[in-house]
Amino acid sequence: MAHALIFDSGVGGLSVSAEIRHRMPALQQSYAADDVFRPYGEKSDAELQARLPELLWSLCETVNPDLAVIACNTASTSALKDIRAILDIPIVGVVPAVKPAAGISPGGRFAVLGTPGTVRREYVDKLIEDFAPDHDVVRLGSTALVRLAEDKLSGRRVNPSDIEREVGPLIVKKVDTIVLACTHFPLLKAEIESAIPYAVNLIDSGEAIARRVETLIEEMPVFKARRPGSDMALLVGHDKDPIRRETFKTYGFHCVVGLHD
Ligand code: DGL
Repeated sequence: MAHALIFDSGVGGLSVSAEIRHRMPALQQSYAADDVFRPYGEKSDAELQARLPELLWSLCETVNPDLAVIACNTASTSALKDIRAILDIPIVGVVPAVKPAAGISPGGRFAVLGTPGTVRREYVDKLIEDFAPDHDVVRLGSTALVRLAEDKLSGRRVNPSDIEREVGPLIVKKVDTIVLACTHFPLLKAEIESAIPYAVNLIDSGEAIARRVETLIEEMPVFKARRPGSDMALLVGHDKDPIRRETFKTYGFHCVVGLHD
């Protein structure tokens, strides 16, 4: 088996990592969280494009993966091209699942719930234009949900009224399907479901990304039978919260180390 680097601004990429682990338990994973620069959804394209290629390059120099997953919609819709330009391994991006949502939305009105940065991107304009031109697509950006997902995985209680406030505009519009267009949001799936007073489809990209990673790895010339090393999480900025560190362990990253920015 090979070795994949999973990258996000924080714990969001764990939702993608878990899908990949479920599909390929023997794949070695390294995880990197850019804790010092979060939230990405509040950063401009210029800021993300200036930071991410170099950061990914140095992370790849450190862990030497066969492939990297940018497990972050905000980073992928902004800087995927720049990251791919300086790395010579396959880079898998995570982008909003607009096409599947358009395919299953019963009433034709669905939401793209992402970070403020993602929902205003031209990348999303293009996805809607290509795959949902006749749908009524409601875009909603929330940084609070990113913080609440971080809180939850750091062992802090998530107040249901905070979730209700964030998804309230989607209830008013009565969307029947919600694209979870931020990798932090599947970590709050149960809370989001309970905040919506009617049945709703929640869609994220995790499973599709796991399938893509599997295909790329199977195509690699050296397909190793065994995991090359143990799974490690690298926290940019040395976050020392013991509960958060424990969370990484429950997701299979038994070694958690801090990195200086
Ligand atoms: N998890 C990231 C995403 O998928 C963003 C979180 C943040 O704003 O840092 O967009």
